Amino acid sequence: MTQAREQVRAHLDELSVTSRRHRGLLRRLREPATIADLVDATALSRRAVETLLRLAGPDLEQIGDTYALAADGYDELALPDGAPLAWTGREDPALVDRLIPLIAAAPPPVKHFDHVPATRASVARRATWLADELWLPGATIAFAGDHDLTSVALALAVPDVRIVVVDLDARLLDHLREVLPDAELHHLDLRDPLPTHLVGTADAFVTDPPYTPTGAALFVARGLAMLRGGSAGAVHRRGLLAYGYGEELPTLGLKVQRAVQDLDVVFEQVLPRFGRYVGAQAVGSASDWYVLAPTPRTARAVARFTVPDERIYTHGRQSQEALPDTTAVPAATPDPAAVLGARLAEHGASTVRAAAVTALAKGLRAAGERPTKPQVRDLVAGVLAPDGSAVPDGGTALDGDARLGDLDTAARAALASALVALLPPSPD
Ligand SMILES: C[S@@+](CC[C@H](N)C(=O)[O-])C[C@H]1O[C@@H](n2cnc3c(N)ncnc32)[C@H](O)[C@@H]1O
Repeated sequence: MTQAREQVRAHLDELSVTSRRHRGLLRRLREPATIADLVDATALSRRAVETLLRLAGPDLEQIGDTYALAADGYDELALPDGAPLAWTGREDPALVDRLIPLIAAAPPPVKHFDHVPATRASVARRATWLADELWLPGATIAFAGDHDLTSVALALAVPDVRIVVVDLDARLLDHLREVLPDAELHHLDLRDPLPTHLVGTADAFVTDPPYTPTGAALFVARGLAMLRGGSAGAVHRRGLLAYGYGEELPTLGLKVQRAVQDLDVVFEQVLPRFGRYVGAQAVGSASDWYVLAPTPRTARAVARFTVPDERIYTHGRQSQEALPDTTAVPAATPDPAAVLGARLAEHGASTVRAAAVTALAKGLRAAGERPTKPQVRDLVAGVLAPDGSAVPDGGTALDGDARLGDLDTAARAALASALVALLPPSPD
């Protein structure tokens, strides 16, 4: 055991789940390679390559401008033969097959927890991505909510990994207790402060949060708080976030991305339409896979984070989309938009058209107008597209005959925004 090798090992330990390409570099160094070859083979920065070469220095043979390992004992540090340097889009149908009975036995989705199940193939894809992209042996992976059972897929794909799941759904935790007896399970509400024994204990976290700005920021903030290493070490940990928005609602997408980036993380990768869902048609039944890389400022941003609003969900009693965006409006004033939104939220059983007429009439009255019912109906007809054609001015096509309660998040939000746009401009 050489001193150089121990220094390399300590460096790789520090790099934690992000050490995979460095280990690929050690594999490449079995044959002579120039710095350019090593950068080319690993896509690591020249600085990262030079650091490893310096640490391994005494164990390297240098001929001209090439380097090669000249000491034994590096095989256990190097990426194993045949292991990919990074995820290449590999799917794992055998893993999908193994997941089928386990997912089938999971508790059914419930709206008030914002459950929208990811497809089995997507759950397996998350696990193969984690297995192929991160360095996982001995790592702890935390799940901030996991009704999809991504933790189970990961445990099947990578046995040598410690799993921690926090979730508010006790039924899910009971199921996980059966399927994953070695996992650490915590029944808690992420809106409450994270218990200190969970802070700084994980090497990566995975979350598919409620798709609201507050919901996404909350789940990501709690995931980040679970990462090891404080402000320096956390930069070598990762967060994986599933999030999608309808292409007609880029403003919502921007708000969610901003809320997440306010935690001072970098979007290291965004893989489009990586996850697919059973339902969630408002977001194309799809989500993107965000690889969140902490920065030295993340720990401070997480420490400052406060739960901005109890209403984090896209569905149910505490849903956000039940109300249009009223953030610019003082809460105490009887704002017509809020009146309209609250009225709309009460109408799950009505058709979209009927609910829209009542809500718009309420909103207009709150704004001091006295429209007749036919006038309101005409206004509403302008934002509905019963034939499925696009609404003028580029808005979302909404079917007036659909049941309001069947609309999903983004469609409800689109309806609320379209109706709010019909109100007279607010004085400010
Ligand atoms: C928000 S759902 C998102 C959709 C996801 N595809 C699914 O169906 O599970 C993700 C997970 O968060 C959990 N969850 C919801 N609200 C929570 C809360 N306040 N605290 C902790 N976990 C929560 C849900 O039980 C679920 O397991």
